[in-house]
Amino acid sequence: MDRSRRVLIIGCGYVGEALARRLSSSGHTVFGLRRSAPDARADLPYAPLVGDLTQPGFWSQLSGPFDWVVNCVSSSRGGPAEYRQVYLEGNRHLLIWLRRHPVDAFAYTSSTSVYGQTDGSWVDETAPTQPGTETGQCLVETEQLLLSAAREQEVPARILRVAGIYGPGRGHLFHQFLNGEARLQDQGQRFLNMIHRDDVASALEAALERGRSGEVYNASDLEPVTQRDFLQWLADQTGRPLPPPAEPGTGPVRKRGVTHKRVSVAKLRQETHWSPRFPTFREGYAEALAALRSS
Ligand SMILES: NC(=O)c1ccc[n+]([C@@H]2O[C@H](COP(=O)([O-])OP(=O)(O)OC[C@H]3O[C@@H](n4cnc5c(N)ncnc54)[C@H](OP(=O)(O)O)[C@@H]3O)[C@@H](O)[C@H]2O)c1
Repeated sequence: MDRSRRVLIIGCGYVGEALARRLSSSGHTVFGLRRSAPDARADLPYAPLVGDLTQPGFWSQLSGPFDWVVNCVSSSRGGPAEYRQVYLEGNRHLLIWLRRHPVDAFAYTSSTSVYGQTDGSWVDETAPTQPGTETGQCLVETEQLLLSAAREQEVPARILRVAGIYGPGRGHLFHQFLNGEARLQDQGQRFLNMIHRDDVASALEAALERGRSGEVYNASDLEPVTQRDFLQWLADQTGRPLPPPAEPGTGPVRKRGVTHKRVSVAKLRQETHWSPRFPTFREGYAEALAALRSS
């Protein structure tokens, strides 16, 4: 590490806390914002701040300075109205604050759900972003807001388009499989793009340290896998049967569920030298499967 930095993580949840742990163990001073006060007894890797980024009153009380700011709040699975409030309006407030309190780097976690492709093609950062959902469209608008601020050289913003996050306690399809609730959708031919929580944290650090302002970087692991191959691998690992096909016309329509694409991370790797600790789901789920076997 070249020097110790003061870092503000807005939305210190699943990813934010992992990033805080990583940065504080490297000697940085980390502040983490959440809506709710953390458990006072918790051993936190950051100094906790409590507030709501969508409220102007919060920003008038926030004092810096910070070298790096990361916005990784989530809408907590909300609908279009929550997306607009948390992502678009939240970043609007943040930009106003950042113009008055300059930082060296600002990173925001967008989503690969901005890619609406349904043909199984590889998508890099130059691929069209025409999501078929209102929530995806809101993320595209949020990206445009931040990229325009970066173009005007007002804020050194870089954006990470993050794939489906899994890790300790998380992994939607994995848990559905274990509960016997997984179903093969459309013969399981759709590609899944996943990334381990700790690799999102290291990608954020790489983007802050070595990424460029005004750039977008995909963040996913190195092997998109079809739903069928992933479930077959879980079946082989656990000795359980491959889940049955879904009844036609059933199955939840998830935010990224209607797309079919493979997310390329070549740009993030080339420009920031990011290398995932869990290059594929096999390494990423090894620990959870080992725990399952020994239970
Ligand atoms: N989950 C995925 O698969 C996925 C995929 C692509 C991109 N992403 C993006 O990755 C980022 C990290 O996701 P995550 O899973 O770590 O989210 P998370 O666990 O839900 O954590 C979000 C954090 O944001 C805080 N927060 C929410 N609304 C807030 C507000 N109005 N003001 C202040 N803090 C607020 C929450 O506070 P409390 O703890 O007090 O509730 C929580 O600490 C998000 O930007 C998400 O959109 C996620």
